[in-house]
Amino acid sequence: MGFATTAIHTGQEPDPTTGAVTVPIYQTSTYAQDGLGKHKGFEYARTQNPTRSALEKNLAALEGAKFGFAFASGMAAIDATLRLVKAGEHVVVSDNTYGGTFRLFTRVLTNYNIQFDFVDTSEVLNVEAVMKPNTRMVFLETPTNPVMIVTDLRAVSDIAHKAGARVVCDNTFMSPYLQRPIEFGVDIVVHSTTKYLNGHSDGIGGIVVLNDEADADWIGFIQNSAGAILSPFDSWLVMRGTKTLALRMEQHDKSGRAVAAFLEEHPKVRKVYYPGSAAHPQHALARRQQRGFGGMVSFDVGSLSAARVVLESVKLCTLAESLGGVETLISHPATMTHASVDAEKRDRLGITEGLVRISVGLEDTDDIIADLDQALERI
Ligand SMILES: Cc1ncc(COP(=O)(O)O)c(C=O)c1O
Repeated sequence: MGFATTAIHTGQEPDPTTGAVTVPIYQTSTYAQDGLGKHKGFEYARTQNPTRSALEKNLAALEGAKFGFAFASGMAAIDATLRLVKAGEHVVVSDNTYGGTFRLFTRVLTNYNIQFDFVDTSEVLNVEAVMKPNTRMVFLETPTNPVMIVTDLRAVSDIAHKAGARVVCDNTFMSPYLQRPIEFGVDIVVHSTTKYLNGHSDGIGGIVVLNDEADADWIGFIQNSAGAILSPFDSWLVMRGTKTLALRMEQHDKSGRAVAAFLEEHPKVRKVYYPGSAAHPQHALARRQQRGFGGMVSFDVGSLSAARVVLESVKLCTLAESLGGVETLISHPATMTHASVDAEKRDRLGITEGLVRISVGLEDTDDIIADLDQALERI
């Protein structure tokens, strides 16, 4: 089955009791049992919920994985994934991850004696250089948030596997429609479903998908033990979202390319970060491992005051954190999504005070560009 067919049908078969074509929201905390030890496979809703299971099956299929586990947020999904690593073990991480991931790793998980090395994973040699005998995981984000650095998934997976480490990829920026990391050797894919998978900016959620049975057993055990599950209603919202994922991503990609091209020509813009641009340092790699380039574009206007003018002058674009929804969102990474990263590191990564990030939505492309144009003219 093709991607769109899988998105619409896998896990979302008509309800066996009523024939409802949409999976019902099983809003229940528990299930009646016929007798002691006699039940229909459902005992308690932290452990099993049919709406959540349907979403887990759907998202696993979209990423080409056997198992899926849905969590209350992207961060809860990432936290559960890191429970595969034990005290005294070491993790290599992409230097420029989402700020919340950096915060969880450096402020929380280091307290449990998990060691982290943050490197620019777009240089494969950097990964090789920090691998240690106790390295158990390489955690990648590609393209990174917000400066769009692309990592070679195949090359890093080969290095990690030789050293006996799993590879995890946060695929939030691309969605499985534009990038399927498991096809390049990655072991585990995580998403903030809050973004493109839900796609309508109306729910927070996360997913972990993988093929290894032992690791899947442990993630499922953590999901039930720690209990950061996705609610039935939020699971349903994400399923509603994935039905149109292919169409939405096509349009995000189309408008993303047009917005990036417009910004590249604009005299007030100093630099554009977009893997679809021929000037992007990993453009050729992005062409190889992505089906498109998506709707995330960052650009530098040179100073905090210029960024403020743009962010406060836009009328159609909404100044807000988050991304991947139908509406165009615009944000300031240095003070918003990446405020938890220290200033020296932000500067080194290119997350300057003049950097603006845009999540290109599904409005008419010309309207988005016209709005950016009038805002840039005010600098
Ligand atoms: C790339 C990436 N990963 C993970 C997360 C965390 O997801 P959530 O906000 O759903 O916890 C985000 C949120 O912005 C993100 O952009």
